[in-house]
Amino acid sequence: MSDLIAQLEELSAEAAAALATTQTTAESEAWYHEYLGRKGRMTAVLRGLGQLSPEQRPQVGKRANEIKQVLEQALAEHQEQIAADEMARVLAAEGIDVTMPGRRPQVGKLHPTNQAMRDIVHIFNQMGFQVFDSPEVETDDMNFGLLNFPLDHPAREMQDTFFTTTPDVILRTHTSPGQIHAMRKYAPEPIRVVLPGKCYRNEDVTARSEMMFYQVEGLAIGHNITFSDLKGTLLNFANQMYGEGRKIRFRKSYFPFTEPSVEVDVDCILCGGAGCRICKYTGWLEILGAGMVHPVVLRNGGYDPAIYSGFAFGMGIERQAMLKRGVDDIRLFYSNDVRFLERV
Ligand code: PHE
Repeated sequence: MSDLIAQLEELSAEAAAALATTQTTAESEAWYHEYLGRKGRMTAVLRGLGQLSPEQRPQVGKRANEIKQVLEQALAEHQEQIAADEMARVLAAEGIDVTMPGRRPQVGKLHPTNQAMRDIVHIFNQMGFQVFDSPEVETDDMNFGLLNFPLDHPAREMQDTFFTTTPDVILRTHTSPGQIHAMRKYAPEPIRVVLPGKCYRNEDVTARSEMMFYQVEGLAIGHNITFSDLKGTLLNFANQMYGEGRKIRFRKSYFPFTEPSVEVDVDCILCGGAGCRICKYTGWLEILGAGMVHPVVLRNGGYDPAIYSGFAFGMGIERQAMLKRGVDDIRLFYSNDVRFLERV
């Protein structure tokens, strides 16, 4: 019996040494067949079991199983190492460095104007304003006359107009003509609408003005709508758009289609009102124009100003995006520089 165990121990030592010299998966598999396979050398040694007494057999069998387990474990570890070495060799041959950072796939995203437009529209949607679509190409009357701009009034020159070859047909200079469309569609029902869209002005293109830009118009008409409603609506907008706790301020202004008219500022989101470069050391940023709908405009829209009142506001969308994201040149929005479009 001790003879058989000695043979097993010797075989085990030889097998372990042989395993260490195998260098490929194929070699390691050949090793298995040679030592541990059904026709292998271990099996051959264990043939000697037949000569042992029934009491001795289990002892030798036990030791044989232990050796087999140890060798199988060693084989598994060795094969793992071989696989890793083989992979490293293949990668080195192909010049692949798996530790190199991957290439980020190009993923499209919303244009900054569209992002801001969606943010703005969403805020007003929550306050019950519905989106109303109105045309970019308008008549002179819609863009000016019905909004109470007197003919040849200098206010028209505040908004340099693009004309078309068709008399009286122009590109809208603001979204306010949409007020007339919305009122004429719904009068005498109360309305609460926002009108996002493109506007055009024949201006020199500078860091502050583009000849094509976007606005969102807002309009609410009903019974007993007051200036406080306008104030509350815009304060809520400013808090949602620029952060909770933001303050707003109203400055008297003039638009032909609102009376009274105001320009609305938000306290500077950068310095919180202390004064900085962005707010030109005033502590305030202008965000929009607004006012109570002028009685003449109400009448032009089909509402009796003795019964109905309303407020309106209009804001430049790029301007909101610029303030919110610290962009200082409006031309970036439409110059198709991917670095800008991806960053903002
Ligand atoms: N239409 C005005 C502009 O373009 C903004 C405005 C809209 C002001 C509605 C008052 C009410 O400057």
